[in-house]
Amino acid sequence: MKILITGGTGYIGSHTLVELLNSNYEVVCIDNFSNSKPEVIGKIKEITNKTFTFYEGDVCDKNILERIFNEHTIDAVIHFAGYKAVGESVKNPLMYYRNNLDSTITLLEVMKKYNCKNFVFSSSATVYGSPKNLPIKEDFPLSTTNPYGTTKLMIEGILKDLYISDNSWNIAVLRYFNPIGAHESGLIGEDPNDIPNNLMPYIVKVATKEYEHLNVFGDDYDTPDGTGVRDYIHVVDLAQGHVSAIEHILKEPGIDFYNLGTGNGYSVLDLVNTFKKVNNIDVPYVIAPRRDGDIAACYADPSYAKEKLGWSAHKDINDMCKDAYNFVKRTKGL
Ligand code: WQD
Repeated sequence: MKILITGGTGYIGSHTLVELLNSNYEVVCIDNFSNSKPEVIGKIKEITNKTFTFYEGDVCDKNILERIFNEHTIDAVIHFAGYKAVGESVKNPLMYYRNNLDSTITLLEVMKKYNCKNFVFSSSATVYGSPKNLPIKEDFPLSTTNPYGTTKLMIEGILKDLYISDNSWNIAVLRYFNPIGAHESGLIGEDPNDIPNNLMPYIVKVATKEYEHLNVFGDDYDTPDGTGVRDYIHVVDLAQGHVSAIEHILKEPGIDFYNLGTGNGYSVLDLVNTFKKVNNIDVPYVIAPRRDGDIAACYADPSYAKEKLGWSAHKDINDMCKDAYNFVKRTKGL
């Protein structure tokens, strides 16, 4: 079985590539390094002691996709490649719509031409907007509050219409909650090319004294300690969810949507205090004003993924904090 993975040197893509190789899939990867580094390729090979085929390129480029499908018989595709920073998408919506939609439509057109109709899509819990109830189930109302989230919702709609037009497609849409942590080897992890938007990479930079303190965006939410609550999931658990999704769509026809979360909600201060405890390090913080667009609480009901994919998360918040810090210690030689 040969799997094409787009964005396979990125944070979630690289961890999924490792799990696919560990599960004895052959892998072809395309990435343009817009939010990742070339050395990740060697790290993946070091972790798995396996090789894979890599193409440097942009998924919007039909020619390189044609080349890949001409040179390989691709059985299924996992599509990670895309821009994913909420704040950046608000400032530059056209760049997000162009890149995220164009790359996906181009990829699907080439897949159709080569009769490859097994597709796993990297979506996000952001499509649920501000949920009225918790935990979140897959049939909850969908709405978005930023262009990044809207690209995910639009692509979900494209996939639904594609399936209606041709029900020989087999599609799994995976709605991620908040992925954090790193591979236990410390060789790959979350390594954003610019100032982090997300909580955990920011905590790590404060712990390594790159930043003086963390700004906690609001402590007046309707949550146990007033700070935002999220469903943090270990990136390796998330990666294994993609392997389960591939196995499922290769057996079961159709299109379906799955929450990939743990079902547990943790606040900002829960995460900070756990990180400090398991890594025995200080993480100074100050309470700052709320961040525009943030919601109070969001966590998954992951039971449908368990029922249909036979998948559930196993790693806990301590593992996530330990592995996140272990990665940055390795990469920075601390
Ligand atoms: C988590 C909590 C913040 C930074 C986003 C996207 C989502 C997905 C994950 C791509 C919130 C608080 C954060 C900081 C803080 N991305 N926070 N200080 O916003 O839940 O989700 O990233 O798929 O689509 O929407 O994640 O890590 O930014 O924030 O207090 O410096 O941490 O207010 O409560 P978020 P996050």
